[in-house]
Amino acid sequence: MTCQLNPGSLLLLLPPLLLLCLVRGSQQTCLSMCLCVSDTVSCSSSGLSKVPLSLPSFSVTLDLGHNHITWIAAGSFRRMPRLENLRMAHNQVSSLGPGAFNNASGLRLLDLSSNKLQVVEQHYFQGLWRLEELLLFNNKIVQVEASTLMGLSSLKKAYFSHNQITDFPFFSIQDHSHPFLTMLDLSSNRMARLQWEDVKALPGLVQRGLYLHNNSLICDCAMYSVFWHWDFRGYDPLRDFADEHTCSISGDPRASIRFLRQSRFFSNCSVEKAISQPVTVLLSNVLVSEGELLHLDCQTSLSGEDLSFTWLSPGKGFIAQSGVNDTLISVFANGTLEIRDAKVNDTGMYVCTALDTKQALNATREVNVTVIPPAPESFNTGYTTLLGCVVTMVVILMYLYLTPCRCSCCKQPKPPAIPIATYDHSTLASVFSPRDEHKMQMNKHVAFVEDGTEWTPEG
Ligand SMILES: *[C@@H]1O[C@H](CO)[C@@H](O)[C@H](O)[C@H]1NC(C)=O
Ligand SMILES: *[C@@H]1O[C@H](CO)[C@@H](O)[C@H](O)[C@H]1NC(C)=O
Ligand SMILES: *[C@@H]1O[C@H](CO)[C@@H](O)[C@H](O)[C@H]1NC(C)=O
Ligand SMILES: *[C@@H]1O[C@H](CO)[C@@H](O)[C@H](O)[C@H]1NC(C)=O
Ligand SMILES: *[C@@H]1O[C@H](CO)[C@@H](O)[C@H](O)[C@H]1NC(C)=O
Ligand SMILES: *[C@@H]1O[C@H](CO)[C@@H](O)[C@H](O)[C@H]1NC(C)=O
Ligand SMILES: *[C@@H]1O[C@H](CO)[C@@H](O)[C@H](O)[C@H]1NC(C)=O
Ligand SMILES: *[C@@H]1O[C@H](CO)[C@@H](O)[C@H](O)[C@H]1NC(C)=O
Repeated sequence: MTCQLNPGSLLLLLPPLLLLCLVRGSQQTCLSMCLCVSDTVSCSSSGLSKVPLSLPSFSVTLDLGHNHITWIAAGSFRRMPRLENLRMAHNQVSSLGPGAFNNASGLRLLDLSSNKLQVVEQHYFQGLWRLEELLLFNNKIVQVEASTLMGLSSLKKAYFSHNQITDFPFFSIQDHSHPFLTMLDLSSNRMARLQWEDVKALPGLVQRGLYLHNNSLICDCAMYSVFWHWDFRGYDPLRDFADEHTCSISGDPRASIRFLRQSRFFSNCSVEKAISQPVTVLLSNVLVSEGELLHLDCQTSLSGEDLSFTWLSPGKGFIAQSGVNDTLISVFANGTLEIRDAKVNDTGMYVCTALDTKQALNATREVNVTVIPPAPESFNTGYTTLLGCVVTMVVILMYLYLTPCRCSCCKQPKPPAIPIATYDHSTLASVFSPRDEHKMQMNKHVAFVEDGTEWTPEG
C-alpha cells in the first residue's frame, strides 16, 4: 500500500477545509468596498461605475447610492432573488436596459432618485408587480411613456417630483390596475395643461394624494374646478402646499397667481358638483361696507318660470322665498336675496339653491360675502391718533420749556401722586388736583403753540 492516509487523519483535515471554503465563499460574494451585514449589503459611496454582479444572494436590501453607475444592464439582479429594497439614489443612471429587473420580481422599493433618467420607457419596470414604492424624483425626466406603470399593481407611492415632465399618462391609472396607489407626486414639473377629464377619472384614493403644485399650470376654469373640489374636500396636498399651487394667466409665467388664495380670478367659472348630475356651483365674492343694501342674485345654470329658490345663510340658516318677510333679509321671486343694512356678522358663504320641480333638477350658487366695518370708525381712529400726537407734542414742549425753569426757581418737590382707592370726595379732589394743574398748563401751552407769541411764565 503506497497510500498511508487513514480515514481518521482525513476527518481531522476536514474542518479547516470547510472553514476555508466558507471564507472563500463570502469573499467572492461581498466586495471589499461593500459592507455585508445579515440581509443587507451597503455599497454606497464606493466609487462603483456599474452594478456589481457578485453580491450575497441572500440580501434583501442593497444600497448602491452615491456611486457613478450610468446604466443598469439586463438581469443585473438575477442572482439576488430575495432582493426587496434597491437603493440607487445619487448615481448617473440615464437609462435601463431591457429586462433590467429580470428575476428581481420581489422588489418592493426602487429608489432611482437623483439620477439622470430622461425618458421613462415602458419596459423599465416590467415584471415588478410587487413594487410598492417607486422613487424617481430629481431626474431629468421629460416623458413618462404611456404604459410604464402598467403591471405595477402593488404600487402605493410614486414620486416623479422635480423633473421636467410636461404630460403624464393619467389614463393608465385605474381602480383595477392600481388599487393601492395613494400617492402620486408630480409636483415641481413643467405641466401646463393637463387632460383634466383623465385627472377627474382617477381613482378617489389617487386624487386624494395627487401632488401637482409648483408646475407651470395655465389658469383656466377646467383646471380651477378640479382643484376647487380637492380643496373643498380638504385633501392633504392642497392643505399642505396651498401657497405653492400657482397658475399663470394666459400662460405668462410672470403673471402667476396663487389660485387657492386668489379665487376671485375664477368668479365666473362654474364648478360641476357631481359628474353624474347637472348641478353647478358658481362662485363669486362680494365686498360691501356695513349698513349698505346688499343684493345677491341667484344665477345658476337653470332658467325658466318654474324655479323656486332657497338661500342658506351663515347666520340665519335657510331663507325661503315664500317665508316670512324679515325686515332685514328677504328673497325675491326671481331668487335675489336682499339684505338691508348689512352687518359685519352677515359675512360668510351664502348658498342659493334653485329648484326646478318639473324637471327635478337643482343647481346652486355660492356667494362669499364680506362686510367690512363702516368708514366713520376709521375716521375716529385717525382723530384719536391726531389727538395723541398733539398731546405728545405738548408734553415734549412742556418738558423742554417748563421743567428747567420750575426746578431752578422754586425747587419744590412734587407730591407723590399715589391714588388712594377710596370714594371720599375730598380725597379724590386732592388726588386729582395736581393733574388739573398740569391740564391748565397744558391748555396754556396749546394756546402758545397756536398764537405763536412768546409765553411768559406766571409769577
Ligand atoms: C430568470 O427568469 C427567467 C424567466 O424570466 C427564468 O427562465 C430563469 O430561470 C430565471 N433565472 C434564475 C436564475 O432564476
Ligand atoms: C419649483 O419648480 C422649480 C422648477 O421646476 C424648481 O427649480 C424649484 O425648486 C421648485 N420649488 C420648490 C419650492 O420645490
Ligand atoms: C365675469 O363676468 C362679468 C360679466 O359677464 C364680467 O364683467 C367680469 O369681468 C368677469 N370676471 C372675470 C374675472 O372674468
Ligand atoms: C349681528 O349683529 C347685530 C347687531 O350689530 C345683532 O343684532 C345680531 O343679532 C347679530 N346677529 C348674529 C347672527 O350674531
Ligand atoms: C318685505 O317688506 C318690505 C317692507 O316691509 C318691502 O319693502 C319689501 O319689498 C318686502 N320684500 C319682499 C321680498 O316681499
Ligand atoms: C330680482 O328682482 C329684484 C326686485 O324686483 C331686482 O332688484 C333684481 O335686480 C332682480 N334680479 C335679477 C337677477 O333680475
Ligand atoms: C338637489 O338634487 C339632489 C340630487 O338630485 C338631491 O339629493 C337634493 O336633495 C336636491 N336638493 C334640493 C334642495 O332639492
Ligand atoms: C371669502 O372671502 C374672504 C375675503 O376675500 C376670504 O378671506 C375667504 O377665504 C373667502 N372664503 C372662501 C370660502 O372662499
